[in-house]
Amino acid sequence: MAIISTAQLARTFATKRGPVEAVRGIDLTVREGEILGFLGPNGAGKTTTLRMLTTLLAPTGGAATVAGHDLATDPAGVRAACGYVAQSGGVDPQVTVREELVTQGRLYRLTKARAAERADELARDLDLTGLLDRKCGALSGGQRRRLDIAMALTHRPKVLFLDEPTTGLDPGSRADLWDLVRRLRAEYGTTVFLTTHYLDEADALSDRLVVVDGGTVVAEGTPAALKREYGGSPDASLQDTFLAVTGRSAAPADAAPVAV
Ligand SMILES: Nc1ncnc2c1ncn2[C@@H]1O[C@H](COP(=O)(O)OP(=O)(O)O)[C@@H](O)[C@H]1O
Ligand SMILES: [Mg+2]
Repeated sequence: MAIISTAQLARTFATKRGPVEAVRGIDLTVREGEILGFLGPNGAGKTTTLRMLTTLLAPTGGAATVAGHDLATDPAGVRAACGYVAQSGGVDPQVTVREELVTQGRLYRLTKARAAERADELARDLDLTGLLDRKCGALSGGQRRRLDIAMALTHRPKVLFLDEPTTGLDPGSRADLWDLVRRLRAEYGTTVFLTTHYLDEADALSDRLVVVDGGTVVAEGTPAALKREYGGSPDASLQDTFLAVTGRSAAPADAAPVAV
């Protein structure tokens, strides 16, 4: 069953220099429980698509449903079904992990007691239990990303959107985050829609890839199928495949984080 479905979803920004067509009619479906890798170079329209699917940004064309809720007519339903971790999460450095989690629970209208319980549950799931009383400003990059994800899971969303979740993390923290994503799907059946420009990440984590460039879908399929189709063989590197699809190379896995 499709948990996300879009039809010619589009967003044009009006700028002083004229219209910028960030997303130019995207059709995609995501199955429930799938880990979808939304892959593309910087400026491809990944973040804009995610912001539309989570109701943070209104489309200027097309339509979409998330967990059966229509973006245009039932944005509250969409929001209840979604967790969203933005490209650069913002937590207050002065408050503790526990305070952040409890505050988030209260934002979702949990009672004080329930918000405290939920903070403990989330900390357990996201390996933050030992850090509950630490100030957010003292967390490592990987710990902070786990906190961002914990906060996004407060209301037990069916779909988790992660925008470049591992950009800037060291290899060990990236591997931990991949395990976490797999565990979320295994334990809770969470559908995960993640953007990345790391090809090894897309390859290792995704059931299926949708490659976007210039605001449109340029290829989609399982990592193996894409490598076969565009790279010439199942053993082709996703790097070669990406080059064939977009005419450009993606950032190598160990590239320095790119400012966006
Ligand atoms: N608020 C905005 N105003 C004008 N242009 C924007 C805005 N947000 C994004 N864009 C442009 O839309 C295109 C897609 O951006 P984005 O969705 O952030 O790409 P990605 O996440 O794939 O790197 C880029 O050309 C970007 O400059
Ligand atoms: Mg982006």
